[in-house]
Amino acid sequence: NRVVALIVAAGSGSRMGGGIPKQYRKVAGVPVIARAFDALVSHPKVDAVHIVIGASQETMLADALGDRVMTSSPGGATRRESVRAGLEAIGSAGRVLIHDAARPFLPATVIDRLIAALDEAEGAIPALPVVDTLVRAEGGVLGDNVEREGLARVQTPQAFRFDDILAAHRNWSGDAEPTDDAQVARAAGHKVLAVPGDAMLEKLTHEADFAAAEARLGAVMT
Ligand code: CTP
Ligand code: MG
Repeated sequence: NRVVALIVAAGSGSRMGGGIPKQYRKVAGVPVIARAFDALVSHPKVDAVHIVIGASQETMLADALGDRVMTSSPGGATRRESVRAGLEAIGSAGRVLIHDAARPFLPATVIDRLIAALDEAEGAIPALPVVDTLVRAEGGVLGDNVEREGLARVQTPQAFRFDDILAAHRNWSGDAEPTDDAQVARAAGHKVLAVPGDAMLEKLTHEADFAAAEARLGAVMT
């Protein structure tokens, strides 16, 4: 019942901009992907880490990870295709934790909760409640408010029984591109549980997120 972590790092970070993709940049002195890698590999229940990367990202990955031990293979044109390619490359495992390279701060407690939840369901994801008011807004024009009660913000890692999520990805036939794997699992009829996420786990998406993450980290350490 081996636990493998799959880090998806094949994105280009178009919303972030800048010279190199966000996952290879440093946050508080350490490359984003190296932080994600270290959090996963240092967890006692995680046996191995596999990383999917974009075309011509080999050098950036090597620079970011130094002598850390892992395997890597090519990702795809969308996040979904990158995950599918990574699962195929891993081939077999008992359970898998699928994690965004762009989420560098991953508490061990979240991994504990996810793995425990897999005893009760085929999948488990970290989620946080929505605290802000939600409203439809297109082109700056406001529409109706959206009831936030009953909604959650979804993070990664997302944990699955390996055979279930691989089959779900192979059978995916949805129209809109899914932005997470729980959607793929649920489309295949699997039960996915939510466990409490963590504010530190926020994804680095826009430029300002780097400064915000460093500020949060500073606040935690002092
Ligand atoms: N990802 C991937 N393969 C893709 C697209 C995304 O492996 N074809 C990964 C990213 O590297 C990131 C994670 O999926 O770790 C979450 O995606 P996102 O935050 O959207 O990153 P990007 O797609 O790189 O950024 P953007 O959407 O702004 O271009
Ligand atoms: Mg993207």
